[in-house]
Amino acid sequence: MSEYSKFKSDRAVYINRQKEDQELAKTTRDFFSLSFAYNYSYNFEFLGRPIIQYPQDVVAMQELIWEVKPDLIIETGIAHGGSLIMNASMLALLDMCDAAKLGVTLNPRESQRMVLGIDIDIRTHNRLAIEAHPMASRIQMIQGSSIAPEIIAQVTKIADDYKCIMVCLDSNHTHEHVLAELHAYAHLTSIGSYCVVFDTVVEEMHDDMFSNRPWGPGNNPMTAVREYLKDFPKFEIDKTIQHKLLITVAPDGYLKRVA
Ligand SMILES: C[S@@+](CC[C@H](N)C(=O)[O-])C[C@H]1O[C@@H](n2cnc3c(N)ncnc32)[C@H](O)[C@@H]1O
Repeated sequence: MSEYSKFKSDRAVYINRQKEDQELAKTTRDFFSLSFAYNYSYNFEFLGRPIIQYPQDVVAMQELIWEVKPDLIIETGIAHGGSLIMNASMLALLDMCDAAKLGVTLNPRESQRMVLGIDIDIRTHNRLAIEAHPMASRIQMIQGSSIAPEIIAQVTKIADDYKCIMVCLDSNHTHEHVLAELHAYAHLTSIGSYCVVFDTVVEEMHDDMFSNRPWGPGNNPMTAVREYLKDFPKFEIDKTIQHKLLITVAPDGYLKRVA
């Protein structure tokens, strides 16, 4: 067994143990609830743009993109563009690695990998900053509701040109909206790739934390995932991700397409 295989196998043992640790699970939930009150997810930037995520999920996305090597990432919910920039930068690295393997020079104009972001309200200052970013050539943005038929049609048409697609849903977090997004986009996920549904964690939090939101426990991305998976068993929840992260906004939200 190689040193790396041994490292991974030892790590798996510890992850298996940590997921059974009830005290750690409670501490994690407490950390999440307490940090949420301070908008903790607003604290970070990726290559100069605010990314509204917990750092653990950022690391998990990086691992998934490296593993899957998608050529298109479809994302609903752009906000300041941090997740678009992060995903675009990972795709740029994948293209660089491919070029290095082939021994060719990368021409950015010919690069194929791309991120497609959809947001109902792309504020001018965000759009300008994203368009001025060094990663801009890999980013396409569409303004409109992610569940509007004309937007779904545009996204589906663009997706036709790509072979390996990853999907991330992070827009309006109501049950109805996320379920409609799952019906619209999850099937575009390639076999072996992921549809990541963010903010499923809402289901595990207190009602009063969402008094100013249309979503909350009982009405959120996790309830939508559960309903969707009843009819679409082509996806499996990849629990290994939440078991290692512990702190994640997407428990039961990392959906791997297996068929
Ligand atoms: C949580 S933020 C996205 C954060 C971003 N993914 C990141 O990681 O930095 C949610 C975004 O969803 C957008 N949104 C809300 N309703 C939407 C809808 N119906 N369709 C598309 N986007 C929507 C909001 O305008 C907001 O920018």
